[in-house]
Amino acid sequence: MTSHPLETIAKSLVRQGKGILAADESNGTMSKRLEAVGIEANSESRRLYRTAMFSTPGLEKYISGVILFDETIRQKMDDGTPIPRYLTDRGMLPGIKVDTGAKPLAGHTGETVTEGLDGLRERCEEYYNMGARFAKWRAVISISKNRPSAASVSTNSHALARYASICQEQGLVPIIEPEVLMDGGHSIMECFEVTSRVLKAVYSDCQTQGVMLSGTILKPNMVLPGKESPGALADEVAKLTCDALKQNVPKNVAGIAFLSGGQSDYDATNHLNRINQIADKPPWPITFSFGRALLADALSLWARSQTEDAQTKLLKRSAENSLASEGCWEEGPSQ
Ligand code: 13P
Repeated sequence: MTSHPLETIAKSLVRQGKGILAADESNGTMSKRLEAVGIEANSESRRLYRTAMFSTPGLEKYISGVILFDETIRQKMDDGTPIPRYLTDRGMLPGIKVDTGAKPLAGHTGETVTEGLDGLRERCEEYYNMGARFAKWRAVISISKNRPSAASVSTNSHALARYASICQEQGLVPIIEPEVLMDGGHSIMECFEVTSRVLKAVYSDCQTQGVMLSGTILKPNMVLPGKESPGALADEVAKLTCDALKQNVPKNVAGIAFLSGGQSDYDATNHLNRINQIADKPPWPITFSFGRALLADALSLWARSQTEDAQTKLLKRSAENSLASEGCWEEGPSQ
């Protein structure tokens, strides 16, 4: 039996030893990151940085797809090749962030709802014609006293499910990203409970909207204590993360690709590795869709005009996370 085209794309994004490079920071976020390393931020400096990263020799060995921002998908490599075509020719699928950002949730101070459903069908059609084959939408859930509210969980999961069904209608594999933030002083058990609650709501809404789960990828947070709380052991992180996923994510989802969420490079890789070591025959491949944990050091090197070193660093981080996606990363000293 031949599989549905969306299933084929989704499976290929999470195929063995491969993960996704998240290079879809909005112009505002990317500009802040460039300015933090002393680079004047504008459309051309964002293009120069991104194209330097995308042209890393050998990147396709570990990276199956690259998530782009609207500005980047319209830009070209130095030789004039459109970026999505360049990536496709290298064997890396172009993806596109399609949400328009987390906006204040009315009546719920400090909480957000991710917007972008208006006009989404038309934007997906345009991105597909530009070569995109998958998409991303990030919902943001924060934990503190009485948070997340029921409104935050239900509006965000509803929007994720609507987004996913529109993407699939337009031939794009939706990456469903409900991110429970690390900000705050909550315990790892609070993160476990909130992550579980959010995943349950997301898959209930996906069912209501008729989303074909085998043509989707989940991009979740790992289950972690808040940044202002004492840390947790990697084994505890791995166990609670596996439990939250196994209890709430349907088996026919094509794959899990974690965000790094502000963890150190070491923690993100170590946790992914431990999760894969202890997950007992998980029904899905478990890999990475990291932004900062792949690119943070590379950006600093690139900003110092050390482009080759930056590419070497990106390749090394991609290789380490590829090993971690199979539970085969040899732990180095904590950094
Ligand atoms: P981080 O890995 O830096 O969290 O970024 C992943 C991402 O795409 C967040 O939306």
